[in-house]
Amino acid sequence: MSQISIHAGSWQDLQADAKVIREAVFIQEQAIAPEDEWDQEDAVALHFVVYIAKQAIATARLLENHSIGRVAVLKSQRGLGVGRVLMQHIIQMAKQQQRPWVKLSAQEHAIPFYQSLGFQVEGESYLDCGIAHVDMRLVFES
Ligand code: COA
Repeated sequence: MSQISIHAGSWQDLQADAKVIREAVFIQEQAIAPEDEWDQEDAVALHFVVYIAKQAIATARLLENHSIGRVAVLKSQRGLGVGRVLMQHIIQMAKQQQRPWVKLSAQEHAIPFYQSLGFQVEGESYLDCGIAHVDMRLVFES
């Protein structure tokens, strides 16, 4: 993987870059409706954007309730370990913030990705925006 950097910040700081990625991945590629993609959590979440040189290639957000969401890597950059490095960065920050766990609502195709990071499935699958999801959680040892 080329040299990457990960920036953490508010929506005000990172929205310009995060929006481009989420627009391409969720709205264009996965056909999620814009009104479902953009919500009030963005204004209060901690956002992450991954850069190669100055190009934004991936994003995610972490909510107050320990929920990680909107995890997206640009299609051209997948399978290179970017998603893993981004998730490991968020997990590390969540541990430093002494959160008890992190959780997420995983699209079913991404279950093995999150399992490889230590997340475990909780409960049955359900539809969200027409896509099958399942809840997953990673509990930190105290
Ligand atoms: N299904 C199964 N395994 C997957 C996977 C998938 N969809 N995506 C990645 N993996 C595996 C890889 O094989 C790799 O395993 P390895 O380390 O043993 O080789 C590991 O997970 C890490 O892969 P990585 O290259 O870091 O993943 P990525 O950068 O391609 O990012 C996603 C993974 C899911 C974030 C990316 O595919 C994506 O943005 N998808 C579209 C948006 C999306 O569905 N987001 C998730 C919403 S819950």
